[in-house]
Amino acid sequence: MPQLKHSSTPEAGRQRKLSISSLFSVAALVVTLLLMHPTMAETAPSVATETAFFAAAPPIIGSHLYEIQLNPVELEPFSTWGGAIEPLGEYLLVATPRGRLALIDSEGKAEYFPQKVPMNESASEKPIRWIGFRVADILLHQLQPDLFTLFVSHHYFAGDCVEFRISSTSLHIDDTNITLSGEWKTEFVANPCIDSDIFNFAHRGGIQAGGRMLMDGPGHLLLVTGDQAFYEWYQEEHPLEPPPPVETDAHIGKLLRIELANGEVETVASGFRNPQGLARDKDGRLWQTEHGPQGGDELNHLKSGLNYGWPYVTHGIQYGNKKWPYNNVQGRHDEYEKPVYSWIPAIGISNLIISDSRYFPLWQDDLLVASLITRSLYRVRLNQGHVMYVEKIEIGARIRDITQMPDGRIALLTDDANILFLQRAPLYCQTESDVDSVYSIDAESVCIDLAKVIAAADDPVIRSLADADFDSPAIRSLFSIYLQGNRLTYVKSPCNRLEFEHRFFLHITPADARNLTEESEQLGFNVLDFNTGEENIAAAIHEDVCLVTRELPDYELKHIYTGQVVRVESPDGEVTWRGPVWDGSYTSKEQPDAASEGDDSPAPQLIADDPSPGAELFAARCGSCHNLDAEHNIGPHLEGLIGRRAGDIAGFKASAALTALDLLWTEENLAEYIANPDQFAPGTTMADMGITDEEAQQIAEFLAANK
Ligand code: HEC
Repeated sequence: MPQLKHSSTPEAGRQRKLSISSLFSVAALVVTLLLMHPTMAETAPSVATETAFFAAAPPIIGSHLYEIQLNPVELEPFSTWGGAIEPLGEYLLVATPRGRLALIDSEGKAEYFPQKVPMNESASEKPIRWIGFRVADILLHQLQPDLFTLFVSHHYFAGDCVEFRISSTSLHIDDTNITLSGEWKTEFVANPCIDSDIFNFAHRGGIQAGGRMLMDGPGHLLLVTGDQAFYEWYQEEHPLEPPPPVETDAHIGKLLRIELANGEVETVASGFRNPQGLARDKDGRLWQTEHGPQGGDELNHLKSGLNYGWPYVTHGIQYGNKKWPYNNVQGRHDEYEKPVYSWIPAIGISNLIISDSRYFPLWQDDLLVASLITRSLYRVRLNQGHVMYVEKIEIGARIRDITQMPDGRIALLTDDANILFLQRAPLYCQTESDVDSVYSIDAESVCIDLAKVIAAADDPVIRSLADADFDSPAIRSLFSIYLQGNRLTYVKSPCNRLEFEHRFFLHITPADARNLTEESEQLGFNVLDFNTGEENIAAAIHEDVCLVTRELPDYELKHIYTGQVVRVESPDGEVTWRGPVWDGSYTSKEQPDAASEGDDSPAPQLIADDPSPGAELFAARCGSCHNLDAEHNIGPHLEGLIGRRAGDIAGFKASAALTALDLLWTEENLAEYIANPDQFAPGTTMADMGITDEEAQQIAEFLAANK
């Protein structure tokens, strides 16, 4: 059974320095970095095979108003479609298509319950197209602070036909566990049972079960049912006759209101084919999404007593045919309640939510409609019930369900057995001079208020930053770095306690190699830790802002890399450190002429007399990890790169992601790799440097010339 995490007491974490046994950890960190150096690796072969030094940053997708970060969580694979998700505090409850139930915690770990949804799957003797047989939706209804009813709408095999049911069980939360009672009650069985001939027939439009649920006050449940492919089946059997109207007591294509106390069912609205989404906005309006036939996916505003026209009218057409047989006027939706919007061509619509996320304040009250076929989200802006615009946001996976977590993350269940948590990519206060950086349009309202963070801290080092100028960061990426004199301050938002407990560090290439410490001389950089607890070093977390600050050594800097060592705690409490995970880099603008001083410097070889933009970019963005002559650094050396096989260079253990590419480097594929390392070679340990396509091109040209 899933274990609840005890969050650490507020006192333990509040305004303290990172209390990590400093000496030991610093030593460990230096060792990690040293191990990346091939000469050192030879002396410690057992650890040197560990190559995951760079964790890939989560992918970020662009949209009209926000950069969106996608954080994937893999579920145990399931090969069939369906399933649903529902938030439970900081957890996400998942039902797989075949009724397994799991909880995903805030760190993305999934734990499965021993109980399953009762679907009676194995009792089948008749052949059934099991692919259509599924859990359609789940819904949690809170009864007491620690007690919920879990409703599941799903198929149930009843001997010679397939029932569509709602079953319920209770979910209980105590101090350490979340448990399901596992006793299932049948709340509702749709009439009629779906003859297995129809169930098996539904090969074109799928099993049109519908099945989305919503509470309607504490005592009633709303359910939208599909037509169970009844009409298309009827049409096949009786090609010339329009199908009869739905019998009053049949639950075909309807919005139903079920009284939980006695199971009584009332029809609220009708005329649906395959409803996939149901959501209520803050004015109480009910929105529904529905799969039409080819080209007829609909967004409907549901009102009591109305008929939405299926199967008699639709904007869609028959699969493989151009007309809808019962429409009096083809391509119209006359005489019945019309959809608010129809997607043509169809997007394979799925569930929708009404956006209310603190991450996406400019989306407030917009509908977020998920799609299967186009693997996208559609953001629908309404104005007085009418659609003003629809923005397509490509996610890249078939989205089966969508929900919003209480903390503002948007969760998607995909048909690849993945959960994708969407949150806003970190925010930056946009300054006028900073047009190139990634930014959010509403950054002003969410700009990190550093004055507040500083004022909230007790630590005198942090308080001493009160008068500092935080107007223009030296680096602005997934975090910001500010340099004031020789003090460096690192700020990240959003940032959670877990991240805060990571160890922030810098590694520095001094402008003058004489300033390298002895042990780092051969590496060409120095490591500075933020977590030593020394004077003048401090860290604070306030709301969702992390801030760490420390003084830099008293010499001129050429280049700084910032990174984190990630704290990993095993279930039995053992803490290990993984990393480093690089955040980004800063190159001093007043860089001294590398050629004049660089003779005895083991730091990256810059081709100082090469004026090409590629050379400069290489020096600034790549040089701290890659050498141009045959000596490895943090990354493999790049001598003779063009024509070399990817990831295949003696003395450097490249990731499997790189070797699996199985290609020879050319100027073209090199440019692609640098611009989007993780897209080009998913899993590569080289971090995305935020290089534009144009810059990548210039760097590739430069490297191609450097044979
Ligand atoms: C923070 C360190 C770091 C920076 C900065 C960096 N790289 Fe890398 N690079 C690596 C690592 C580590 C690898 C090995 C990746 C793997 O094994 O997946 C790598 C791999 C490569 C490879 C593949 C080499 C081979 O033998 O197949 C190329 C090419 C490359 N980097 C080019 C660049 C360029 C160009 C830049 C600048 C835009 C750059 N790198 C910036 C660390 C870095």
